[in-house]
Amino acid sequence: MELRTPKGTRDLLPPATKVWAEVESIAREVFELYGYREIRTPIIEDAALFERGVGEGTDLVGKEMFSFPDKAGRRLTLRPESTASVCRAYVQHQLHLKPHPLKFYYMGPQFRYERPQKGRYRQFHQIGVELFGGAGGASYYHADVEVISLLVRFLQKFGLTGLEVKLNSVGDRESREGYRAALVDYFQKWQGTLSDDSKRRVLQNPLRILDSKHPDDAPAISGAPEITDYLNSLSRSHFDAVLNLLTDLGIPFRVEPRLVRGLDYYTHTVFEVVSHGLGSQDAICGGGAYANLIKQLGGPSVYGVGFAIGEDRLVELFSEESKRRLEGIGPLIVAPQAQNSKYGSAYEMDDAIALCEKIRAMGVPADWTMGRPEKVFKFAEYLNSRFVIFVSPDWGRTQVVSVRDMESKSLTTTPISHAIELWRSLHLIKREGRDD
Ligand code: HAM
Repeated sequence: MELRTPKGTRDLLPPATKVWAEVESIAREVFELYGYREIRTPIIEDAALFERGVGEGTDLVGKEMFSFPDKAGRRLTLRPESTASVCRAYVQHQLHLKPHPLKFYYMGPQFRYERPQKGRYRQFHQIGVELFGGAGGASYYHADVEVISLLVRFLQKFGLTGLEVKLNSVGDRESREGYRAALVDYFQKWQGTLSDDSKRRVLQNPLRILDSKHPDDAPAISGAPEITDYLNSLSRSHFDAVLNLLTDLGIPFRVEPRLVRGLDYYTHTVFEVVSHGLGSQDAICGGGAYANLIKQLGGPSVYGVGFAIGEDRLVELFSEESKRRLEGIGPLIVAPQAQNSKYGSAYEMDDAIALCEKIRAMGVPADWTMGRPEKVFKFAEYLNSRFVIFVSPDWGRTQVVSVRDMESKSLTTTPISHAIELWRSLHLIKREGRDD
């Protein structure tokens, strides 16, 4: 039997892994700029956490969880998202006793049993943040705005075009009850034309119908009531304050009155970032505030807000050029200059290894190979290396080597120190280009 990755999962190979690692390192840099610190939670959690936190009526919990009993019969789930896990950790470790606002970031694999397609995997990866505290340290709407501005600043690092921040408010519980009743009334009139899934949801969870991509539902959805007409004064003023501050800060967004998001814990501000370059799976980020989740999980009443970016989808948006920039440049390649035999003997490799060690000691990456020049150049190309150093046995005395520039194909004799400088200056140029 041929063994392959399980359905909906992928191997990530170099050089793609380098692009991913760079994205994650930029995320750490930007998040830490805003005072966020890393949290790591287990990949398995009690199934009840998501049932209680995300909501039993959601697709995520109802259809998409990888759940299984362990050997002792405990019901475990591979985490389908991390907000519930971070909130569980907040409650478990009594983090409400720490000074607020309290800010966390995380990155790692998530699991959803969905039908795989481009941009949709069963194991995918999120980079996310959660901010706790609202009134205890920052007002609620400031918390929402900070999270969105952090998100925009992070995404700007990749020079992407065609991104849009869609924003809405789902209000507090009271506002949502009024809206829910209006939706039930409205969709009942459309019962005859709705898709089967949506028919079932009219009484159970009418907000979810707004998320439906089924063509039969489109006419009903297009005329559905908008939640902004049902916000009570507290929810309305919260939302207005968010819109005003985002505008003052020059952060671009579009209010999308039917954006409701697929998870039950949201209150007030919700948002998504969509890309016009991604086809049907166009959301690269989803987020929002949750005023009741910590309490629902057994903690005190604490306001939270956060987002999660789909790293797989983010990377799919990168141009070839920006991927190459994130990959960076390969190591200096050192190969023996054939002296005694045609292609370099094992003895001559001693010189190559010794020179590699010297270069590495100076903090510059170096790798070695041997063989015919064409083979050496193939190796350099594969590692995206610009320079190959051919070393002869007297390099220790002369400190001089032959350097082949893979781009111009020129071969020059030069001091070792110069070869190292060449690598360093190229590396710097690449890194500076990163912030374009
Ligand atoms: P979500 O909208 O379910 O929100 O997921 C966030 C992002 O994860 C999506 O916008 C998408 O880019 C990516 N994603 C989701 N499912 C898949 C999949 N099957 N394959 C590839 N990418 C996927 C949450 O998970 C919330 N926890 C976000 C949040 C944090 N809200 C508050 N704090």
